[in-house]
Amino acid sequence: MLTLGVLASGSGSNFQSIVNNIESGYLNARVAVLISDKPDAYAIERAKKHNIEHLVLNPKDFPDKDAYYSHIAKELKRRGVELVILAGFMRVVGKALIDEYRNRIMNIHPALLPSFPGLHGQKQAADYSVKISGCTVHFVDEGMDTGPIIIQAAVPAYHDDTEETLGKRILKQEHKIFPYAIKLYSEGKITLESRKVVISGDREDFAVANPPIDELKT
Ligand code: GAR
Repeated sequence: MLTLGVLASGSGSNFQSIVNNIESGYLNARVAVLISDKPDAYAIERAKKHNIEHLVLNPKDFPDKDAYYSHIAKELKRRGVELVILAGFMRVVGKALIDEYRNRIMNIHPALLPSFPGLHGQKQAADYSVKISGCTVHFVDEGMDTGPIIIQAAVPAYHDDTEETLGKRILKQEHKIFPYAIKLYSEGKITLESRKVVISGDREDFAVANPPIDELKT
């Protein structure tokens, strides 16, 4: 069983979809701890409801970024976390954590990377008036949303979309592809060749890299 550590800053609906897919038996994993940088993040309430240990770690309580991320890495390691999940964690992760969990940190981003990295991916796409947008699960490296892409889902975008309307459409897909990427990882189906993610079986069966979404609980 794969041991996860989740970092979240906000509502935590992605965290919830992961928990739901664990509880339904779709994902053979457990969440050892939820860590939030914000004491009022709704994700914490979700953790409480599901009896998942939670920690609030405010960067302001640490002398610098390195100390903050070293501490997070230590908390994750002592709970045996194997894969770190950034579920709406609104910070650029520090090197101390990346070095400790190289290629074992997954992030979800609300745009089709490499377009619209950084904050407000949905707003950037709506303002640009793209005709297709979506979301991306990728491994985290030192850059801003630049790590190897694992999986993506596309949604239509319309001329009158706003950050909210497009964001809602994208979020529905986020709730599906994030658990799916974790499932692929837990089954050993993801390998890295340099910065290229290889998903075994995806050439023979396109559906392997394009989730059978109906199985997922959102
Ligand atoms: C999600 O849309 C996620 O893709 C985005 O924050 C939202 C969190 O929602 N993440 C980023 O923009 C990271 N740069 P949630 O708290 O309900 O899961």
